[in-house]
Amino acid sequence: MNQALHRFSVEGRVVVVTGASSGIGKHMATVLAHAGAGVVLVARRKDTIDSLADTLRRDIPTARVHTVCCDLNAVEDFDALAIELSAPFGAPNSLINAAGVNFREPADQISAQSWNQTINLNLTVPFFLSRALVNGMRGDGTIINIASLQSIRAFPDSMPYGASKGGVTQLTRAMAQAWSPEGVRANAIAPGFFPTELTQAVFDDDAKAAANARQTCIGRNGELEDLSGPTLFLCSAASSYMTGQVLYVDGGFTAK
Ligand SMILES: NC(=O)c1ccc[n+]([C@@H]2O[C@H](COP(=O)([O-])OP(=O)(O)OC[C@H]3O[C@@H](n4cnc5c(N)ncnc54)[C@H](OP(=O)(O)O)[C@@H]3O)[C@@H](O)[C@H]2O)c1
Repeated sequence: MNQALHRFSVEGRVVVVTGASSGIGKHMATVLAHAGAGVVLVARRKDTIDSLADTLRRDIPTARVHTVCCDLNAVEDFDALAIELSAPFGAPNSLINAAGVNFREPADQISAQSWNQTINLNLTVPFFLSRALVNGMRGDGTIINIASLQSIRAFPDSMPYGASKGGVTQLTRAMAQAWSPEGVRANAIAPGFFPTELTQAVFDDDAKAAANARQTCIGRNGELEDLSGPTLFLCSAASSYMTGQVLYVDGGFTAK
């Protein structure tokens, strides 16, 4: 492999991916496993992550895959979780914080519970999980948070979600400030509209989906494959001088 391409390699790295049972987290974990990384899959639905692990082991003879079934909103001891996540393959080099929710409630119907669940899973968990894993990553670590168009744009019925995603971009900068001197880079990917369980209601509405596509420069909504390159880039040495940044993978939605 030529030297420039070699910098994109994630071979031999170990990556923890939360939200690995579905959508973006599942896709990123799959891409990384196919590229030679060991992956630790985290989500609540045990059958779903176990089935993904079986598929990866079947498709990739050398795959290193482990699953940890966990409700991240119920974690009280992130250091204990970090030990569990590090058990199969040693301390992870990378963490992808992809678990997230958006309950899509009008402002006057948002309960304290749904507000707190959203902020906790989307913003608080990425901080505490990253902090628990960062010691083991020192020297050569990468954290990828998942931001959103809603980090910088308002959409209807999404106040706690938007607040959490605005927070994620600033958390990413703060992580970069704190941990980059010790060799742990933190960046975020901000996806446009991608078809997943989270966005099913949007994609089920043809008019809404078409309007979102029209808002991009490219003229279509995202396909999960569009996230493969950015994932490998931000996990690998190819992005060695990038930290504290938000990479918008949105077809130019925010450029217009
Ligand atoms: N799709 C898009 O267009 C889009 C755009 C911008 C940003 N994002 C962000 O991308 C990330 C992934 O979203 P997605 O679209 O892939 O959504 P998704 O398909 O609904 O996946 C969400 C993931 O989060 C996990 N999860 C939810 N609650 C959890 C909990 N309490 N504990 C542990 N895991 C939990 C789910 O697994 P279980 O249900 O098995 O626990 C699932 O794997 C989110 O942060 C989202 O905000 C998505």
